[in-house]
Amino acid sequence: MVADIGRDIVPDTLRAVRALFIGDVVGSPGRRALARAMPRLRAEHGADLVIVNGENSAGGLGITEGTASELFELGADVITTGNHVYRHRDAYGYLDRAERVVRPANYLPGNPGRGHTVVNAAGRRVAVINLSGAVHMRAARSPFVEVDAILDRLVDEADTVIVDFHAEVTSEKVAMGWHLDGRVAAVIGTHTHVPTADQRVLPGGTAYISDAGMTGARGGVIGVRREQALESFLTQMPVRFDTADEDPWVMGVTVEIRPDGLADSIGQVLMPAGE
Ligand SMILES: [Fe+2]
Ligand SMILES: [Fe+2]
Repeated sequence: MVADIGRDIVPDTLRAVRALFIGDVVGSPGRRALARAMPRLRAEHGADLVIVNGENSAGGLGITEGTASELFELGADVITTGNHVYRHRDAYGYLDRAERVVRPANYLPGNPGRGHTVVNAAGRRVAVINLSGAVHMRAARSPFVEVDAILDRLVDEADTVIVDFHAEVTSEKVAMGWHLDGRVAAVIGTHTHVPTADQRVLPGGTAYISDAGMTGARGGVIGVRREQALESFLTQMPVRFDTADEDPWVMGVTVEIRPDGLADSIGQVLMPAGE
């Protein structure tokens, strides 16, 4: 059976929920860019709920309790992650404890952390699910089967659902959008660090984008210093990678969620955030 979230009788006193989703924050340049941009983003979008992908927040790879705390202080309500989540071993205990930090749900059950969380925003119970792609990515189970099982469990626990689909290839992401159309408020792609221009609300009412982009230095190569990335491609030898800091931008999307739990609109956030 496939769950149908948020389609019950809707009280007419509920207003829309405005969600702001921030793409992968890369290292300290990304964290500083987000700090500079948050006041303006809050003023312009009036977000009820802020979701930040933090999988690259610690030194460009992984997350720590310290960088997660910094993202929460900047206004994040939920932090999602992805394939780099287990880079820092000393964060494993934190991932088990932190109720509003999620890692891909289709990893092995014994791995640290949880795959979804439910928070309150504008009077609604909003579930945030993190999934990993299975194409060119390491995942224990199919994200398609996994998300169906989670939605079944959330029927009585959430009024609306937002999915961060951390995946490599656009075909798998587009397919997930159609798989969940009409069942969740939004399917937001992350991981490639390059924003796509295909944001739209699908016919069933699910906001979709293949990739929200990253929050980090556009002057590098998806967050890495460009001369190091170029050396790697030119020499095909091991190269040390450092986080780029030139031309930082904040990238993400805003989603307006109707009282029935589906989406009204999706808009892109592409904001220069240098000194
Ligand atoms: Fe990333
Ligand atoms: Fe990733």
